[in-house]
Amino acid sequence: MSQFNTELHNHEKLQILLDRLHVMVVAPADALPDRRWCNLFVHEVEAFQEAMEIHMSAEEKGGYMHELIELHPELARKAATLKEEHSKFHTALATLLAAARKGEDAAGLRSQIQDFLTEVYEHEVAETDLVQEALQRDIGPAD
Ligand SMILES: [Fe+2]
Ligand SMILES: [Fe+2]
Repeated sequence: MSQFNTELHNHEKLQILLDRLHVMVVAPADALPDRRWCNLFVHEVEAFQEAMEIHMSAEEKGGYMHELIELHPELARKAATLKEEHSKFHTALATLLAAARKGEDAAGLRSQIQDFLTEVYEHEVAETDLVQEALQRDIGPAD
């Protein structure tokens, strides 16, 4: 699995953007006036959305999903579930951004993004686990 070995589900940039959003969510409610918090939030979600779309399409087109299914058809179901989550994230980000641009209540946005971030973290962990599982199968059991 040539690509796996060199690119092993690398997403440092995405992690930084996720952490920035997380910091915004856990910041005290009076850290910024609501209006400015919402403006900053729009900016951060836009940056995250751009990186996430690139990340997801790279995974689907040339990344781990393609090669993994080819070499390990038995893991295809797990990969398909993760791919479905990509469409969910795509929609959730568009919805969040639309709400944020309208300047809807900051508290509501905070709780929505918190749920979303948890799902993204879990998704990324599941992907790393899947890649590790495929690598293990390549190497085979130690004897
Ligand atoms: Fe993914
Ligand atoms: Fe990923």
